[in-house]
Amino acid sequence: MDTVYSSNSSTTPSSLLFLPLPLIANLKVVIIGAGYVGAPSAAIIAIKCPSVSVTVFDIDRSRIDAWNSDSLPIYEPGLDDLIRQCKKQGNLRFSNNESVVALADLIIVCVQTPTKRFGVGAGHASDLKNIELAARMISRVCASTGGRPRHRIVVEKSTVPVKTAQTLKIVLNPSTAPGNRRPSLSGLSTSSSPSSSSSTSITAVNTFSVISSPEFLAEGTAVADLEKPSRVLIGGDDTIAGRESVRTLAALYAEWVPLEKIITTNLWSSELSKLVANAFLAQRISSINSVSALCEASGADVNEVARAVGTDIRVGPHFLKSSVGFGGSCFKKDILNLVYLFRSYNLHEPALYWESVVKINEWQETRFSHSIVSRLFNTITGKKLAMLGFAFKADTGDCRESAAAAVANSLLQERARLHVFDPKADAAHMFEELETSHQISQSTTPGLNDLFVVETDVYACCLNAHAVIVTTEWPMFKKLDWARIYAGCIKPAFVFDGRNILDHSNLSQIGFSVHAIGKNLAVEAAMHAHAAAVSAVAERASPQGSPLKKGSVGVGGGGGGGGGKDSDDADFKSLNEAVARVLDTTTVELPLPPPSI
Ligand code: UDX
Ligand code: UDX
Repeated sequence: MDTVYSSNSSTTPSSLLFLPLPLIANLKVVIIGAGYVGAPSAAIIAIKCPSVSVTVFDIDRSRIDAWNSDSLPIYEPGLDDLIRQCKKQGNLRFSNNESVVALADLIIVCVQTPTKRFGVGAGHASDLKNIELAARMISRVCASTGGRPRHRIVVEKSTVPVKTAQTLKIVLNPSTAPGNRRPSLSGLSTSSSPSSSSSTSITAVNTFSVISSPEFLAEGTAVADLEKPSRVLIGGDDTIAGRESVRTLAALYAEWVPLEKIITTNLWSSELSKLVANAFLAQRISSINSVSALCEASGADVNEVARAVGTDIRVGPHFLKSSVGFGGSCFKKDILNLVYLFRSYNLHEPALYWESVVKINEWQETRFSHSIVSRLFNTITGKKLAMLGFAFKADTGDCRESAAAAVANSLLQERARLHVFDPKADAAHMFEELETSHQISQSTTPGLNDLFVVETDVYACCLNAHAVIVTTEWPMFKKLDWARIYAGCIKPAFVFDGRNILDHSNLSQIGFSVHAIGKNLAVEAAMHAHAAAVSAVAERASPQGSPLKKGSVGVGGGGGGGGGKDSDDADFKSLNEAVARVLDTTTVELPLPPPSI
């Protein structure tokens, strides 16, 4: 690589990236963890850097076999094609043989870091078992099969609590631990190639630099996110080895990412930024979801409010889509981890603040399930309910921490019969999520197979259902033949739109009783009736056209037909009362027709 400066960069790259970056030709990259992050990341590096060899290692043999087959273990738009191209190019492979790790110059760790389920910090702290296991494996394999000792770069890509890199450094370089001898970092070549070593750079033991480079891809858009990332974050130590390691990883990304999008920071900022980024995104969803309840109570429309608020460029339009709740393997886990970190540093007020983001999410899930029960006449026992969508979002088959599973849990507690359809999530993952997050299994819930039925046909799923519940925002749900679904439902038929994606007025016209997050459709209907009545009165008062057009400040009384002011007032009063009944409050004040002049 001759030059990495971007000629048309509009912003300045981090100062660390000013000097020509190391050459990355022939670099050997190994990624540990063939999951949602590791495998797509490996594929994009392989395709963008043809001279680099990329190997993905995973301890799970069946996962590796699946990646090596034509039937990939995860669904991600565009990934099949990408992997196919990489395999053709010949520089990407998947292996279950840990000895491949020893061949690497750069090792990227992408193992999962779930929330701890037991012991100190259970329910909040991250379980770093996999990170430590990966580090110990790297150290062991490099020592036993890696040839002569040398320096390698280990990249922490898994989301981890701030300071995890410290643990990695100690596990990988045990001689740096307090009381042990200092390591020689001379093994890190500062020449143009990170893999080259001169006789002076040979070390007695393997040494490792640890840098942090969290991944910001979202599932469902992973390939596009990797191809055009909003930014690449790399954090490292301010030492020769640290800086050169950061620059080596930057050189790899610079093959397809403009330099000004590569942010370099210190290690701890990089680790913490990932947690904070996810917390901020989730916080926006909880904020709009909290407002959705007020919209339902007041007759405001959450989509309209989100639009009005989000068009302020200081706020921005993204992540303001009200929903039944956010899910996925990251948001909840990362916020709880952040909360744990605050508490560890005795910062209790901010801990409470961030914890409330998760609490609002749980409240939203519960609120949605409760509204289903209460609208279905307070009993759903034995009733068939059709659930459309189980993945935590559209364009993925991933069900981890899905809001659908939380809703299913509540409905199963009431002994409803759930029939579930999802275009990509399979039954095994649905049952796994029910068990992992909600302890629902055959043993805890006898007869589960009859209470939770996974359907492969969406119309069969809805047939004879009392209600259809939309829990994932799959675009295909908008295009269903809702008249056909209505015909097959038990009447009165209900639709609960937990994602606000359906055409509610069309569904109402078909005959459904429709309920949507952040909208009070009954109030909307009453408001429409009210508006229609206002305009009818205006028409009666002014047969030639709008009274405002005539320069009048109000509706002219008595002129030109209609029932006269008293009967108009009576009409509006009864409409107001109807609206108030809908709102279940007497405080609603809708305007009476303007007084007669
Ligand atoms: C990733 C991140 O790495 C995680 O920290 C982040 O918060 C979410 O995204 P993800 O790719 O979703 O995790 O995890 P997963 O799909 O479960 O894949 C992790 C893989 O690592 C698994 O296939 C697992 O078998 C493998 N693994 C785990 C190893 O190869 N070695 C281990 O020691 C542990
Ligand atoms: C998230 C972050 O977006 C990504 O940067 C990080 O690397 C991993 O965590 P992911 O969880 O894959 O990605 O998906 P995301 O698109 O963020 O959606 C998370 C959840 O929020 C989904 O359940 C989604 O349906 C929900 N969501 C999202 C809303 O309810 N409303 C919104 O406006 C946006």
